[in-house]
Amino acid sequence: MNTKGNILIGITGGIAAYKSLSLIRLFVQNGYEVKVATTKNALNFITPLSIETLSNNTLYSDMFTLPSNRQVEHIALSDWADVVVVAPASANIIGKLASGIADDALSTLLLAVKKKIYIAPAMNERMFTHFSVQKNLSFLRENGIQIIEPEEGFLACKVKGKGRMAEPETIFNIVNDGFEAKESFSHLTALVTAGPTYEPIDAVRFVGNYSSGLMGFSLAEALAEKGIRVNLVAGPTHLTSRHPFIQRTDVQTANEMLNACKSLAAKADILIMAAAVADYSPEHPSTEKIKKTTKDLQLTLQPTADILKTLAAKKKKKQVVVGFALETNNEVENAKKKLKEKNADCIILNSLRDEGAGFGVTTNKVKIIDTKGNIIDIPLQSKKEIAKTIVQYIITHHINKNKKQ
Ligand code: CTP
Repeated sequence: MNTKGNILIGITGGIAAYKSLSLIRLFVQNGYEVKVATTKNALNFITPLSIETLSNNTLYSDMFTLPSNRQVEHIALSDWADVVVVAPASANIIGKLASGIADDALSTLLLAVKKKIYIAPAMNERMFTHFSVQKNLSFLRENGIQIIEPEEGFLACKVKGKGRMAEPETIFNIVNDGFEAKESFSHLTALVTAGPTYEPIDAVRFVGNYSSGLMGFSLAEALAEKGIRVNLVAGPTHLTSRHPFIQRTDVQTANEMLNACKSLAAKADILIMAAAVADYSPEHPSTEKIKKTTKDLQLTLQPTADILKTLAAKKKKKQVVVGFALETNNEVENAKKKLKEKNADCIILNSLRDEGAGFGVTTNKVKIIDTKGNIIDIPLQSKKEIAKTIVQYIITHHINKNKKQ
């Protein structure tokens, strides 16, 4: 059957479960194939018969009944799904997912899923605002799970407050929009470099810089949020990336970064070189710790390979290459020079003279300078927001334009 996509709906025990029947119907009516997994408690509110009739598929609620095809059902279902929507999500399932607990069909399935997960909480306001539930929701959010906020209104406990599950139409629209956005970009692959590089002096010391990697990691997240598969090559950083579309490779030195990028660049549609690569590395690093024996120590540094320039020299038709420039003076002029010399399509200019921009801060202020003569100012905001704007710029000015050519 030709379907728009495979939606797996998880239903937990709560009065809002009756609304999930409308949600199933909305997805089916709009051309999606729907399968449903529930907790045991959910079946106190709605029946397997209604779920199976509306979804036109067998319900999954018991881990220990072997399906006819003898597949391991929670793995097969998690592979089958393009997107998972848990609605209503009780405090219990939110807590289990945040803690990695798998003690029934739905919680086990959720841990096996490597796709986008939406969670639509529904519970009493006091429970929803409880610090434990809020902590769990923040943790899930940080790990790429999208929370569909509950609404204010009359709750089943006859009080007014925030905790009522979002309406099925709201949930449907959010998931459907995300799905459509992903659909058009899911064929794209990006390569992002991030963080500093460390060039060893000896066994315990290195030449490096203060880059945190946050800009590059935020760009990887923003690309993945659009459904783009991302290869993230990261220098030493404490940041984590858990979006299922991000494949991370950790490196130390400029040379290792270049080697990791070479094969990945060939298959990438978008290259974003956000790493603060060391320009020089010690010529003869010592494998042992250098002892304090001489009065002054001379280090001979040799230039590292320019990763951006090396990869952009082999740029393919329709490949988009984005570089960064970190400048302290003659910013635009220097950035334009880098744009040309490195054969990039655009340069994201950071000026260290701008407060709140550059290394070690969570905000940035940049200019996008491209070969088409555009100079776009992006005002001071969080690096996460800047990353989203840069990704949107790449899509509008390069990907969509290339598509038309
Ligand atoms: N870059 C790179 N490899 C290097 C040095 C820089 O790929 N060895 C990339 C950076 O990731 C960035 C761009 O080149 O996208 C510009 O980096 P920047 O440090 O601003 O400029 P440099 O080329 O190092 O020149 P300079 O330090 O003289 O300004």
